[in-house]
Formats: sequence, C-alpha cells, structure tokens
Amino acid sequence: MLFNLNEFLMSISFALDFVELDITGATSNHSKRVSYICYKMGENLGFTSNQLYDLTALAILHDNGVSDKRLHDKSLGTSLNNFSLIERKKEHCIVSEKNIKSFPFSTNVSDVLLYHHENYDGTGYFRLPGPNIPLMSQIIHLSDILDITFSLDHLNNEEHNKLLSFINDNRNIMFSDDIANAFLNISKHKSFWLDLKTMFLTTALKNLIPSISIECSFKELRSMTKTISRIIDSKSPYTQLHSSELAIKIEKLAKYYGENEDDIYKLVIAADLHDIGKLAVPNSILDAERKLTLDEYEVIKEHTYYTRVALQGIEGFEDIVEWASNHHERLNGKGYPFGKIHTELDFNSRLMGCLDVYQALTEARPYRPSLTHTAAMQILNDMKNDNLIDSKITEDIDYIFGSNSFNPFK
Ligand SMILES: [Fe+2]
Ligand SMILES: [Fe+2]
Ligand SMILES: [Fe+2]
Ligand SMILES: [Fe+2]
Repeated sequence: MLFNLNEFLMSISFALDFVELDITGATSNHSKRVSYICYKMGENLGFTSNQLYDLTALAILHDNGVSDKRLHDKSLGTSLNNFSLIERKKEHCIVSEKNIKSFPFSTNVSDVLLYHHENYDGTGYFRLPGPNIPLMSQIIHLSDILDITFSLDHLNNEEHNKLLSFINDNRNIMFSDDIANAFLNISKHKSFWLDLKTMFLTTALKNLIPSISIECSFKELRSMTKTISRIIDSKSPYTQLHSSELAIKIEKLAKYYGENEDDIYKLVIAADLHDIGKLAVPNSILDAERKLTLDEYEVIKEHTYYTRVALQGIEGFEDIVEWASNHHERLNGKGYPFGKIHTELDFNSRLMGCLDVYQALTEARPYRPSLTHTAAMQILNDMKNDNLIDSKITEDIDYIFGSNSFNPFK
C-alpha cells in the first residue's frame, strides 16, 4: 500500500504531546511547535526535501524519551511532575536516540537526538564543541529552547523584543551565527507567528511537512510502530513488555486462525499501538499501589478514546484503528469508551480484547503479582460466562498458551 508518513507522524505528535498533558496537566503542543520552527529553518538553510522530511520527523520525536518512567525517578533528581526538569537531564537524550534506532529515515541522522541539547560553545550535556554538533541537532536545540523559554503562542511586543535579544545575546554561545540568522530570517513575517498559534499550528504543520508517501507492506510498517510501542511501554515499570508481548501473542493467534499476512501485521501494529492513549494518563494513576478512586478509574477509561483520536487520521489504518481502540469494549455493551455491543465488534477486535486481558493478568501490577496461566484463565472464563469476551477465543487462548497443551503454535 502507499503509506503517507506525514499522517503517521502527525499522529505520533498528538501522542507525544499527550505525554506533556500527563506530566504538566496541559499540552503546549511542544513537539508540533518545535517541528514547525525546525522545518522553516531547514528550508531557509537550503535542506533537500528528504532532509526536511527527516528533520521534521526528528523534531516531532525529539523528546520521545521524556515519557520513560525511569527518568521520573527521584534518584535522578527529577520531580515526578516536571517536564522541563526531565528535559534538563541528559538521560532523556540517550533514551530518545535509542528509541528511534529502527525508524526508517532517508538521510543520515545518527546522534541528532543524542545531541539536541548541545550548546555551540561546548557547554552542553555532552560537551561537544560546536562544529561537531550535527546541524539538525543545532536547529532542534534553538527551536526547543525558544518554545520552552517563551510563550510562542502569544508573544506581545515586549516579549518579542526579549526573544530577539536572547537570540543575539546567545550567538556563538548557545547557537552558531548561521542558526541564529536562519531563525531571524524565518521569523520576520507575521504569518510565522500566526502559524505558531495553537489554533493554526496543526494545519500549518500539515501543509508544510513534505508529502512523502512510500510503497510498503504492513510488515515493513511494523519497524516504525515497534519504535512507538517501545515509547508506550516505557511509560510505566509495570508495562515494560506489555505491548511487545501482546504483539508476539497476537501474531501467534492470528497465524493459528489462518489470517492472511496483511491482517496478521495489522494486528501486530494494532497491538503495538493499542495503549498509545495511556501516554495521557498520569503515572500517579497507572502506578498506584492502591485501589483507584472512581474519578481515577474514569481517567483510565479515557485512554482508548485517545488511542482512536491519535490513529484515526492515518489513511490505510482503518482496521488498525478499530482493533486497537476497541480493546476495552465488551460483547454485552459494558465496556468503554463507546459501550459497543457484540454486533459492533468484529473478530479481530474481540481477539485484541481477549488477549489484552490475558496479557495484563499475566503481568505484575502495582497492587498484585503476575498471575499464572491457570489463574488468568479462571478470570477469563468468568468474563466469558458474563458475556464480556468471546468464548471461542477464550478457549483458544487456553489451548495455545496453556502449559499442558501440545500444539505447533507454541
Ligand atoms: Fe529535550
Ligand atoms: Fe523539547
Ligand atoms: Fe488498554
Ligand atoms: Fe493493554
């Protein structure tokens, strides 16, 4: 199929900006705004369309490591709720760089994210001297700093002047002359500042990102979604393997049912992305070692709605959106967020729903240890009897993943 990477990246940007929603309680559209500025600067500096595409993608992904639960650990000196403090730790650069290793960039972009906080005078996290800092890292650095330091969404005249002084004062300290000049060039026009306003930003970015479509199979697309699944799973210590294990198991079951290769990989991609909406759920809820309050449970229930919102703009992802975001719907209509009933849940939605329960039960949670296959099956069987999940699929999960069964799919 012809796959539009732009649409995919815009979805990723929604999800990555969800992380901010969790950490700060509000989203400032940081990754989108940084991407917009980077694109304009790259264009001004004469980048080719492939370089522009990669730069925009990297800008969207530049802080992907911020969701990593390990960076929220007090031992690293970061408070649980401070996005900018996490940005001030070099660990997020290392994690961000590592997470994107399998992303299909078309130019050489190694170490761009690793060095996205280096200052031109060599005083950054890794003390890299200016000329050795990749150009794309330098562009992301300036865009990032400006968005963190100033309210680019609504600058008044006085703040605008402060921003210009900031750029000029930091020439050859934070940024090279060329980078500073590129920014001054692109920011001359009124339209630049209007595009940065939240209400216009998404459209402006969509119109700008080079429209690159690639001919690829769902199997090939998987290398990208695996990257995203790593970002999702790293959000909580309790879900480090959740999406990746679910993807392995769903591939096994789909092969058992004789599904065709496209559907198998669509299911694997759906498993990779099914909990992308959890990026918006605070860790204080996901990792709570106590019973959740009713209000907190309501917040948990929002995550599949966000999954749908994040994925629904991607052409060719129609089945994936359904299978990924229906995983908490139940046959009797008691699921969430839509309360769909059995006639609205196709086989692969049911498969995802059943297997997600099984996968979650066999993992440890803050309030209980991991369950054995037998204990998990007891719960699945109760759910089956209550007409919550599909009975045939429940039996097949027992057959395929049970320790006493002999089958070629294990
Ligand atoms: Fe950063
Ligand atoms: Fe950032
Ligand atoms: Fe979920
Ligand atoms: Fe899940």
